[in-house]
Amino acid sequence: MTSTNEIRRAFLDFFARADHAEVPSAPLVPYSDPTLMFVNAGMVPFKNAFTGLETPPAPRATSAQKCVRAGGKHNDLDNVGYTARHHTFFEMLGNFSFGDYFKEQAIDNAWTLLTKEWGLDPERLLVTVYHTDDEAFDLWKKRTGFADEKIIRIPTKDNFWAMGSDGPCGPCSEIFYDHGDHIWGGPPGSPEEDGDRFVEIWNLVFMQFQQEADEIVSELPRPSIDTGMGLERVAAVLQGVHDNYDTDTFRELIAASESLTGVKAEGDSQASHRVIADHLRSTSFLLADGVLPSNEGRGYVLRRIMRRAMRHAHLLGASEPLMHRLVPALVTEMGQAYPELQRGQDLIEEVLEREETQFRRTLEKGLRLLDDATREMAEGGTLDGETAFKLYDTYGFPYDLTEDALRGRGLAVDRAGFDAAMAQQKAAARAAWKGSGEAASDELWFDIADREGSTEFTGYASTTGEAAVVAIVRDGAEVDAAAEGDSVTILTNQTPFYGESGGQTGDAGRIWAPAGLEFAVETTNKPLGRLHAHVGTMRAGTVRRGDTVHLRIDAERRDRIRANHSATHLVHAALRNRLGGHVTQKGSLVTDERFRFDFSHPKPLTDEDIAAIEAEVNAEIRANEQVSTRLMTPDDAVAAGALALFGEKYGDEVRVLSIGRKGEGGRNYSVELCGGVHVEATGDIGLFRIVSESAVSSGVRRIEALTGEAARQWLVGRDEALKTIAGALRTGPEDAVARVTALIEERRKLEKDLAEAKRALALGGGGAGGDTAPADEDVGGVKFSGQVLDGLNPRELRPLLDEAKTRLGSGVATICAVNEGKGAIAVAVTDDLAERFSAVDLVKSGVEALGGKGGGGRPDMAQGGGPDGDKASEAIAAVREALARENA
Ligand code: ALA
Repeated sequence: MTSTNEIRRAFLDFFARADHAEVPSAPLVPYSDPTLMFVNAGMVPFKNAFTGLETPPAPRATSAQKCVRAGGKHNDLDNVGYTARHHTFFEMLGNFSFGDYFKEQAIDNAWTLLTKEWGLDPERLLVTVYHTDDEAFDLWKKRTGFADEKIIRIPTKDNFWAMGSDGPCGPCSEIFYDHGDHIWGGPPGSPEEDGDRFVEIWNLVFMQFQQEADEIVSELPRPSIDTGMGLERVAAVLQGVHDNYDTDTFRELIAASESLTGVKAEGDSQASHRVIADHLRSTSFLLADGVLPSNEGRGYVLRRIMRRAMRHAHLLGASEPLMHRLVPALVTEMGQAYPELQRGQDLIEEVLEREETQFRRTLEKGLRLLDDATREMAEGGTLDGETAFKLYDTYGFPYDLTEDALRGRGLAVDRAGFDAAMAQQKAAARAAWKGSGEAASDELWFDIADREGSTEFTGYASTTGEAAVVAIVRDGAEVDAAAEGDSVTILTNQTPFYGESGGQTGDAGRIWAPAGLEFAVETTNKPLGRLHAHVGTMRAGTVRRGDTVHLRIDAERRDRIRANHSATHLVHAALRNRLGGHVTQKGSLVTDERFRFDFSHPKPLTDEDIAAIEAEVNAEIRANEQVSTRLMTPDDAVAAGALALFGEKYGDEVRVLSIGRKGEGGRNYSVELCGGVHVEATGDIGLFRIVSESAVSSGVRRIEALTGEAARQWLVGRDEALKTIAGALRTGPEDAVARVTALIEERRKLEKDLAEAKRALALGGGGAGGDTAPADEDVGGVKFSGQVLDGLNPRELRPLLDEAKTRLGSGVATICAVNEGKGAIAVAVTDDLAERFSAVDLVKSGVEALGGKGGGGRPDMAQGGGPDGDKASEAIAAVREALARENA
């Protein structure tokens, strides 16, 4: 028997031999396609190559592409488990020609592979063509020699293939395999065509047109080929079984669930095993491609698939979580062809186990409620929408899970009632919204959110993408279009632009379309916490609601934001290590230029604190450990040691960021809850530097810091300053400190010398700096000495006068010090004369001459001063005259 893995390989090798470039499967999430939820065909990654927007990887290509059909336009979820060939996940084998070969060779390739390489009996095959495609009819006839009845003309959309309402399309030709008349069913186009006897195994699409909103709008630049063969179906054919679930891969997966549950895949249990095997594949592959369970968009489709499988595990009597224990069997089967399964195994198991543990808490109660509500119902009955909504809202039952649970008993669910209950809940949430306080704008955002749902953020994994414009807002109101020069806000169904939240600034970048539309996104906001609003200016062209646009964030700016954001987490951890567990985050602002981090701490950080924190953070940066992100319930996150951010509100799931090396107990250096964007490895931060530390309010400190190139430039600036200083000192930077210290020392010494010199001068030793040494005079029999000294510090007056008194033995001495234009004067009277003259009275005359007032001290020594230093000699004379008066 040929294994599924061998069939995949054989297909790719066959086309590689025919000059096709082998292209690996693209991820399941088409971030580059706004109209698709998941990749649903092999050609999706080549869409732009067909339309001419992008250069094809080669003129011919071949691939085995992972596909999911659950949610969105192609949705097979409801049928899985109950038919032989429906899957939520399947692989599409394809060969592609981008304007290279066309119908004839496509038909020849297909026929050769099926009948020559794989030896299928032509008797068992038949084909269809689009009813007007005579060319394809003739080519098939020529190549196969089939009778006309075996080349069936089909007039319906079945033979006109389109990727979706938008995208390349064209007539197609399908190859069917007849499993034999023991199975009910008729050939395509017959009334029994829905039976399982004739199975489509390969679709050859003759790509020729481009459509928009289901209308053909143009021809493709060149006719091209897109083919798709369902690997699971062809494996069934080549392995001689009729049912996809009997092929090797599925047998192994079902054997694993049989052995873990102890229940055989027979009778009523068969569907459950099939659901589990299929859903194990889709959920594991989606997780490996970065989709995580959530309550919106793709994440909710994933959760719906998971929970549907988990109910079936419960049906099989599994008493503990089952899904994660099946992952090893899947990795064994498919890990070689898809290494992402191996790489993601831990994460896949962890998320599945967590989700199942969590869901099992409410599953049983919900099923009991469902039983109570439907016990009396006969087949054909309908469960009311209120109850279905309660199951959804309170017990976490996705709508289709409830449907699936009732399916076996022939019961339906009132969808309209469910929708009404949902709408009512939304209205209540709107009424309860406190929001930004701007009621008018909140109304607008609610209208948009209710109509369009939340914006799906694709920016954790990607910096570019495509999206559909769902709303344009100008001056607080919705408009249908915006033209060049308009300042508007554009909302799209999905976006890689981060909306400002959690202290992280919004992304900037551009929104554009090949038709000449160009919108500069200045920043991105996040109204209601779930819409991403691109704020900016139309630079060219016109944007309309419904347009498909390309989005590209300024990735270098985003990288700087990432580095700063991850650094805030490292700083937080370092601060706690250094200062203690009382440190908690009080706020932060993360921009592309710098970041600041506010935290509780009663006193300023010392220089040693700052140095230690910088050293610790930089050591983590150099360790270059991968940053890991996990989704957890808030309780689990806190149990895992995550620091919950102050005052943040969280939903039922949180992102837990683990950054830095593992320490005791395997806990990373930093573990925090965070919705922001982060570096992949700490080394991406490059360098960390604190540039300021200050107080914000009592008990709250603020650090401002830089990372990467900004930190480097800051250091370069410091270095430049040091070089300039060294240059002025005529030395090298390394000697600058010693030189400055020496200069300060020298200056201190010089000041001292100078003071001494002035004193010596005052005592009659020198020649410069004011009057010469005082000549002692005789004023009415009293010895008098008067002197002016320029630049003398007034503090020196008293010691100098003491010396003068000693010299005079008996008499009156005065000195006026002149400094910076002002004068200070002091008078001393020797003790023997203190009865006769008061220094206080004498000095007043001098002070007046200096333009000042008063003066004070004791009778033997008094001092004062005035603004007119140039009147110093007059002041001395005034004291002399006062003495003469008193002596008269
Ligand atoms: N794109 C074609 C399909 O999905 C081959 O059937």
